Amino acid sequence: MRRSGKITIAHLVARKREARPIPMLTCYDFSTARLLAEAGVDVILVGDTYAEVCLGHESTIPVSMDEMVSIAAAVRRGAPQAFLIGDMPFLSYQVDPNDAVRNAGRFLASAGCDCVKVEVDRRLAPTVEAIARAGIPVMAHLGLGPQSIHRLGGYRCQGKTAEDALRIIEDARIMEEAGAVALLLEAVTNEVARSVAERTALPVIGCVSGPFCDGQVLVLHDILGYTAGHRPRAVKCYADLHQTLTDAFSRYAEDVRQRDYPRDSDGAAMPAEEAEKLRQKLQGAE
Ligand code: KIV
Repeated sequence: MRRSGKITIAHLVARKREARPIPMLTCYDFSTARLLAEAGVDVILVGDTYAEVCLGHESTIPVSMDEMVSIAAAVRRGAPQAFLIGDMPFLSYQVDPNDAVRNAGRFLASAGCDCVKVEVDRRLAPTVEAIARAGIPVMAHLGLGPQSIHRLGGYRCQGKTAEDALRIIEDARIMEEAGAVALLLEAVTNEVARSVAERTALPVIGCVSGPFCDGQVLVLHDILGYTAGHRPRAVKCYADLHQTLTDAFSRYAEDVRQRDYPRDSDGAAMPAEEAEKLRQKLQGAE
């Protein structure tokens, strides 16, 4: 049965065609997914940045397929109408295209995702092709691939030389040909983002890649001022949850220390006659 109001890839393609920018955020849990849905953010990435912002790892590399599928299912429960993208974790697709198809399928079958995302370059075109051939919508993530951070040697802007820019622009074309339904460009120059977005009918989502893409994605914790460590310079902050939450936690801790919470009225009292019976029984037992 088709749910009315459900966002599909056709909606994203139409938004690109109509030049209506697509807001997208990462999300990792049910309660936050409900807030995103309420706020009208209807494209959600269950990103492997979960490893960093929720699990406290140094990189995205340690998170597993099981963890990603489990949190994607929680996000889906919170945002039933969203276009939901499951981020395929490190080594869930790089080794063997058959594994890639099976793992991608888990995001759809077990978590209710609409699409999967893979960090790729042209060498992984056969994998993108295999996933697409299996009927699984796939978003190709190009530019900076955090899963390759050890090879790249750091979080650096990509496409700064003409040669590097042409390589990324050509990779985007190859991914479209391989059957990707959307592209994500992370940390590429404005020129690369513009060239890629202008040369394809696919929706192109930018992540700290300037203003020329068809949509934008950021890590939720970064825009909320909730990130423990480094936040990229180009990320705009829309709240200061660090301050708001530490204030709330300190006030709670102080209330408990001062016995200001809970008070009598915050607890449940027994009916008077039962309390009296209890008092007598306890006295009799002494
Ligand atoms: O995992 C993630 O959050 C991502 C975004 C940075 C695009 O891939």
